[in-house]
Amino acid sequence: MLRNAFIDAIFSSPDGHYIDCTFGRGGHSRALLKRLSSRGRLLALDRDPEAIAAGKALEQQDQRFTICHSDFAQLSASLENEAWGKVNGIGFDLGVSSPQVDNAERGFSFKQDGPLDMRMDNSAGQPLSRMLEHTSERELVDVLRSFGDERYARRIVGAILKALHNNTLHSTADLENLCFHAVPKQARYGGSHPATRTFQALRIWVNGEMDQIDTGIRAAMDALLPGGKLAVISFHSGEDRRIRDLIETAVRPCTCPPALPVCVCGKKPSMRWLQKKPVRANEQEISANPRSRSSMLRVAQRLSEAEAVKLAGYCGGLH
Ligand SMILES: C[S@@+](CC[C@H](N)C(=O)[O-])C[C@H]1O[C@@H](n2cnc3c(N)ncnc32)[C@H](O)[C@@H]1O
Repeated sequence: MLRNAFIDAIFSSPDGHYIDCTFGRGGHSRALLKRLSSRGRLLALDRDPEAIAAGKALEQQDQRFTICHSDFAQLSASLENEAWGKVNGIGFDLGVSSPQVDNAERGFSFKQDGPLDMRMDNSAGQPLSRMLEHTSERELVDVLRSFGDERYARRIVGAILKALHNNTLHSTADLENLCFHAVPKQARYGGSHPATRTFQALRIWVNGEMDQIDTGIRAAMDALLPGGKLAVISFHSGEDRRIRDLIETAVRPCTCPPALPVCVCGKKPSMRWLQKKPVRANEQEISANPRSRSSMLRVAQRLSEAEAVKLAGYCGGLH
């Protein structure tokens, strides 16, 4: 969702070159291709082999479009491999796609029974079931707290470890049931399902999503032409904070500690905010797709060298 705002944010010229880092099933890519001339180009990435298969079909139909099996951590390498120079716009629509969530076999959903997998790229890495075999109580509590803001992390992790020990945790239905009974009775009804935060946190852990965001957003900012734009849609506050901080570091002209009387870092900014306060989905979008309720869009723009030099003096050497 937020599709129009997202496309408006990264689009600048019909002849431009663009990257969609999260192809999914190509909703954003197709909307962007509609705005491009025959000289415009779009490169899309995804780490999910099923998304790549869908992208290959689009590649056959549209010569302006290229799909690449890559995660965010490989973004720079993929751009080099594909011989892409700097681009006019890059977009990220983070999280899981509807086809991933709706396919029980992928193990993302607590609403359907499936294996404990949760890998976006199920051709690589370890499924959740294997990762749970090698984890510790401390690590799991940290995962649930950091990536899910789960207040009952300790109780849920205790129940997970007990079930692993008793060999009774084999499927997403087992995990859902375990979360439901691990939280206090008053927390079981009324709000979101007691397994929501645990499933989100474990998915982020299995896919190394926070590290992926760090590398991907930095590589994306480096890949932009002066004036090129970066748009990011995220789905929960932890992710959004990470994105805000990554961009803010590139926007801030000075990194000296505030206690220093004069600027000694000499840092130049490389980006400016176009949309610092996140845009949220409107009521119409939410009723069409309830999953968009928590989506947030942030937009920033790459500075030219001249603009960067001008803004570097922003702190005037004084704090
Ligand atoms: C919310 S969906 C994107 C939906 C897409 N905008 C559309 O219109 O169909 C997110 C997609 O990004 C992919 N993805 C998430 N994290 C990724 C990463 N670190 N590297 C590459 N792809 C990733 C997922 O596999 C998923 O297909």
